[in-house]
Amino acid sequence: MNAHSGKHTADATTVEEGLAIAEAQDAQFTNEMATETAMQNTLLTPRFYTTDFDELDAIDVSGVREDWDKLIDQMEADPNRGHFKKNEDWDHVDWDNMEPQLKKEFIDFLISSCTAEFSGCVLYKEMKRRGNNKDITQLFQLMARDEARHAGFINDALREAGLRVNLGFLTQKKKYTYFRPKFIYYATYLSEKIGYARYITIFRHLEANPEHRFHPIFKWFREWCNDEFSHGEAFALLMKTDPKLTSGVNVYWIKFFLTAVYATMYVRDHQRPAFHKALGVDPDWYAHEVFTKTSELSKQIFPITLDIDSPKWQPLLERLQKANVDLDVAKKQGGPIGFVKRMSASARAATAFVQLLLIPSKGHQVPANVRLEPVY
Ligand SMILES: [Fe+2]
Ligand SMILES: [Fe+2]
Repeated sequence: MNAHSGKHTADATTVEEGLAIAEAQDAQFTNEMATETAMQNTLLTPRFYTTDFDELDAIDVSGVREDWDKLIDQMEADPNRGHFKKNEDWDHVDWDNMEPQLKKEFIDFLISSCTAEFSGCVLYKEMKRRGNNKDITQLFQLMARDEARHAGFINDALREAGLRVNLGFLTQKKKYTYFRPKFIYYATYLSEKIGYARYITIFRHLEANPEHRFHPIFKWFREWCNDEFSHGEAFALLMKTDPKLTSGVNVYWIKFFLTAVYATMYVRDHQRPAFHKALGVDPDWYAHEVFTKTSELSKQIFPITLDIDSPKWQPLLERLQKANVDLDVAKKQGGPIGFVKRMSASARAATAFVQLLLIPSKGHQVPANVRLEPVY
């Protein structure tokens, strides 16, 4: 834990320092299973992104200066410094006696979360490194700092199970997907806000039902989601600098990203039934709760929200999820019959996704003042 001159990733004040600590740990302890899982690139696993950094660097935030400076000041004040490490609240975890299916799904959850956190870290750090615009580099440095801490903390939890995601290896070897800057805004804004909604929903649920808190990491979720909330605010301000990003044909892109992000979450969470059962959470209830919160938040900048209460919404999500399960089975089966089943399952998944996209969205007026506070 304390490989780098006794310091922990939670105390690092820059992303460079955080990553140096992480790398020293990588050198001491690696685990192939966790890193291989993190290396996977499918529609459902977290990816690494790269973009046109010059275009991002050219953003002028003077139109949102007042809100921008306030947000940066909050992030510079660094209320969560030192928070993301084990302390006396960290209860002992009995990994050996954890129910095997729960253990498998929970480890999968931790690895996938660690990869997603680190994906943000890598993208933000690269923007900071390549940029010359002081506002932009400052923001991305601060966000990268937070994501390095988050990823580092999940690795602490994994380590108790004898696992570790090798972050240095991932940086070098994981495939990077190119996204145009505007797609980075939509995707990243949404992943930060849905991350907030996911973490706070679990945190509040476990606050009310502590007997379901089967692992101590959930106690850290409130401060955690407040970091994600600020990151989302930053992307909302970035989008606010250019009204074109949230009007005209781009509204269709926003709808596409909303649908893709919600559908991915639904399918992925339904792959972890034992995990949700242990938390005492019905994954359908949880999904709806998270979508409701995310939609409410995203009204700050997006002129539409998805009609998640449409009678078509839930059945189509279920059809998509079922097709995905069949796809998995067919892949494992292999051979010509497996191939035919795979094609048919893929077609059903694609149809369900297109039908989700075709549900009319709800339009509304975007407020003049973009900034929000975390209230859930
Ligand atoms: Fe994070
Ligand atoms: Fe974040």
